[in-house]
Amino acid sequence: MSSFPIEPVDRFVGQGSAIRKPEEIACFSYDEEHKFRLDDSSLKYYYPPKLGANLCAGFNEFKKLDTTADDGLNSLLKTILEKEKETGELLEVDFITWRGMMTKIMAAPYDRFNDFDMNATLFQGTIYIEEDHATKWALQQKQSGQQPRRGQPSQDMMSFWGYKFETISLIPDVWDKVSRETIENREHEIVSNHAQYCSVVRTGLGSSSLILGGEVDAVWDRKLANRTTDINWVELKTAEEPNSSFSAQKFERKLLKFWVQSFLLGVPRIIVGFRSPQGILQRLDEYKTNSIPGKVKREGQYSWDGNVCINFASAFLEFLKATITGDGVWRIHCERGHPITVYKISEAGHGSILSEEFLQWRQ
Ligand code: A3P
Ligand code: MG
Ligand code: MG
Repeated sequence: MSSFPIEPVDRFVGQGSAIRKPEEIACFSYDEEHKFRLDDSSLKYYYPPKLGANLCAGFNEFKKLDTTADDGLNSLLKTILEKEKETGELLEVDFITWRGMMTKIMAAPYDRFNDFDMNATLFQGTIYIEEDHATKWALQQKQSGQQPRRGQPSQDMMSFWGYKFETISLIPDVWDKVSRETIENREHEIVSNHAQYCSVVRTGLGSSSLILGGEVDAVWDRKLANRTTDINWVELKTAEEPNSSFSAQKFERKLLKFWVQSFLLGVPRIIVGFRSPQGILQRLDEYKTNSIPGKVKREGQYSWDGNVCINFASAFLEFLKATITGDGVWRIHCERGHPITVYKISEAGHGSILSEEFLQWRQ
């Protein structure tokens, strides 16, 4: 077993490691039935929502995706292999994973509630990392089973607010092609989280190259053809309006997650919908992703340092490259207050991380 300590995080202070600007190399969509499509059909556009909207409205009609049937890396691998077939070139990088896995790794120096289990395997020089299904499932069970405090909204309701905010902030096409009626009707639309647009980017952290896939909420105005970097993406987030130094600190910690998530895919802008404790949308604010770490340092309580996250992640990826060197499957385990451990759970093969289709294509 190998281990990589998170503490002391001070050893990662200093100039951030080199970063390669994320470049979109492919995309895919899930449609309204959550069926995979190798296109941008689920791309959405931002159009500001009305303030005063009740984010609870429509909770009982929520068309909620059953996330227990985790599809692992399959959609990402399918998109990569189709890209390789199209160009005739293999995509060679050190790591291939979902953006969500890298978010957990990058936030680890500061996110003390960030326990995770991942599985990794080396294949033709690339390390593939997936979330461990069993742990993900257990966490979901725990979260939705939590009893809210008296008078407080449930976890399920709070999660619904995020999707409702998306529904009232997005339109299906560029704004001049969308009717006034569609825009006005957004508050009455049935909320669904089945459809998604996923961007697949090539990026780099320190000496590691990566391909990451992740959901992008919307584009600001329009997506220019052939544009692969500096795309006008928008990430939508909801947060409780901070009204005390305690809640301001809580918000600053939330900004860490917002920043990491958007930074990794090259999303330049985050729209935050501030809500009341009961879910009424009160105010919108816009954050430039790249200015968040500086803002936290200058104006906030400086509870986290973006360069530490970058340096930590780049050192951790180095450690993975030195550890995951042969056949088999490794578990990456992170538990609050302990070093991250990496150990073999299978001596040979790739577990269920790589799909048959992908293996056959590459063999
Ligand atoms: P908020 O982040 O505004 O709460 P994303 O922001 O990544 O696009 O996700 C959209 C919404 O999905 C979130 O909106 C939240 O409502 C819900 N969501 C995402 N991850 C979740 C999780 N781990 N548990 C519960 N809800 C989650
Ligand atoms: Mg999203
Ligand atoms: Mg969002």
